[in-house]
Amino acid sequence: MALQLRVYVPPHPLIKHWLAVSRDESTPSVLFRSAMTELGRWLTYEAIRDWMPTVDTEVKTPLSPSAATFINPEIPIAVIPILRAGLSLLDGAQALLPLASIYHIGVVRNEETLEPTVYLNKFPEQFPPETKVLITEPMLATGGTITTVMGELTQRGISPENVRIISVVTAPPALQKLNVAFPGLVIYAAAIDEGLNEHGYIVPGLGDAGDRTFGT
Ligand code: URA
Repeated sequence: MALQLRVYVPPHPLIKHWLAVSRDESTPSVLFRSAMTELGRWLTYEAIRDWMPTVDTEVKTPLSPSAATFINPEIPIAVIPILRAGLSLLDGAQALLPLASIYHIGVVRNEETLEPTVYLNKFPEQFPPETKVLITEPMLATGGTITTVMGELTQRGISPENVRIISVVTAPPALQKLNVAFPGLVIYAAAIDEGLNEHGYIVPGLGDAGDRTFGT
């Protein structure tokens, strides 16, 4: 069967709560940042439950041998925040993946054409192909930025099937674009909204995630 993009919206009350806080225009920046950290934590929790590599072994309890499962330390895990707004989800993700390597990439959208440009790329020339990659990107709107980042990753040896994205609000144009370009991808999101306005913002969305995180 042909691969298809999968998008999960976990029905978790904490995800709904922090999404509501982040959407509310009266939420101040300091609380918005907490909401994004919490969304980063709970979306990561959901995204890695059947994805983190484990290894079965045995340990000795004080009473007897016991079957045991550990996180497999031999499979590299990378977290990629897409600057700027992706930084807002990083603390929550890192709290659950403390040994992951963090690779920053900065992408800016031209406000008129909406075309993305990479202005910072800390990726290695090649990733070990078995690397598991978690991308943090709060808004998947037109799909231009995430498609650019996925292109940079696949050029460096990462297969889309090894990538999961956590996002707060997604919109159909981005999901359609990703389904065509990278059908093996899996996304964990707090919401799928109706669409975009003429400036490429998600409606109802939550506004500019970068501005609301950094107060500028
Ligand atoms: N980026 C944002 O910060 N907000 C949107 O609605 C779309 C892209």
